[in-house]
Amino acid sequence: MARNALEASIEKIKSDWGPLSSEVVAACRRHMENLLEASSTEEWLATLHRQGPTDSELYRDPAHGFVLLAHTESEGLYRPPHDHGRGWVIYAIQRGEIEMGTYGRIDDPDGSVRLVKRGSTVVRPGEVQVYLPGDIHDTRCLRGPALLFRFTERDLKKEDREAQRVTRYVERNGAWTVGPA
Ligand SMILES: [Fe+2]
Repeated sequence: MARNALEASIEKIKSDWGPLSSEVVAACRRHMENLLEASSTEEWLATLHRQGPTDSELYRDPAHGFVLLAHTESEGLYRPPHDHGRGWVIYAIQRGEIEMGTYGRIDDPDGSVRLVKRGSTVVRPGEVQVYLPGDIHDTRCLRGPALLFRFTERDLKKEDREAQRVTRYVERNGAWTVGPA
């Protein structure tokens, strides 16, 4: 029996879990939206608001491997375009406002790589954004401190450091590209 909204959401995600599909994404999205409705009087959420950790692991599933993180971001914080390797993620905004841009990767015939920005959206409290494997996005905290929950289908630190599947883009001559800055 769940003691709070955090445990309730995790239990529901576990029961709906499966290989990546529209149904699994829709279910997880719904459970993350429900998590955003948690009362800020719940102890775990009150603690996050009070302490404002930049990086806090709320849950890691031993069977399925998904990880739920919380990040507190200060106004103006910018995270450059990146993908999530083989993983998919859900960003859920609990407070503050974060602008999220999405990009397409263009591999030019000469072998060079550049990103083209598709557009951006301002994500507000109660709202979520889903990024599937291969999606490229950036984030900018417009109003802080922002608290965002980041549900990741797998451990992205492992995906980055061990599998080296996460691509981070760098700005060169006014365009986003790969490789050393
Ligand atoms: Fe991301």
